[in-house]
Amino acid sequence: MEELLLAWYGASGRDLPWRRTRDPYAILVSEVMLQQTQVERVVPRYLAWLARWPTPAAHAAASAADVIREWQGLGYNRRALSLHRAAIMVAEEGWPNDLTRLPGVGPYTAAAIRNFAFSEDVLPVDVNVERVQRRTGHVFTGAAAQALMDLGATVCVARVPRCGCCPLEDVCPSRGTRDEPRRKQSPFEGSFRQRRASVLRHVAARPRPLGDCDGEAVRSLERDGLVVVEAGVVRLPA
Ligand code: ADE
Repeated sequence: MEELLLAWYGASGRDLPWRRTRDPYAILVSEVMLQQTQVERVVPRYLAWLARWPTPAAHAAASAADVIREWQGLGYNRRALSLHRAAIMVAEEGWPNDLTRLPGVGPYTAAAIRNFAFSEDVLPVDVNVERVQRRTGHVFTGAAAQALMDLGATVCVARVPRCGCCPLEDVCPSRGTRDEPRRKQSPFEGSFRQRRASVLRHVAARPRPLGDCDGEAVRSLERDGLVVVEAGVVRLPA
């Protein structure tokens, strides 16, 4: 099973910039961006980020405000602050043995860094990888990680899998079947997220009077450390 997948990946795998490096910081940046943002949107932002801050020390020296601004448009802005705090930790203390001690790094991202940067045989299991393993009934090794991500993102997709062009078609017990639709984000979560994003964009341009802003969204951003409110003015953290 795994040999078929790896042969397919060799011929049809995507050429993505974070696959050309073993630098753990570059891998960390890519994986945090990829946690909730699509590959096509991440590619240019990943390249710009590393051009601006090529090392943990360079990133650690940036202000939180610049980090939040550079993140704009990627969504889920708390990730920017976690990444910044992780870069500060690494710049000061080096890489921890247990990577989940880094802010914003859970078991999945830790496994991705251990595999892609440190060549350990651990499989980062995201929703795509989980789906391919569940459908094929096969447990893959760490060597198959990037291939599984590509297969899950482009062929073995949740709703209408393209079994006709899958390298595992002949050996897959689930060929031709679909997954149940996943629960969508509720309209409320979606609209509150937009309100927060809109306030953050407004404040990222320059400090704004609190009275000009959506107060509920400001309070939620303030709790996450993404804005500070002082003397009736809302601004990015220093
Ligand atoms: N999604 C999460 N990590 C990824 C990676 N390294 N390549 C492609 N998609 C991903």
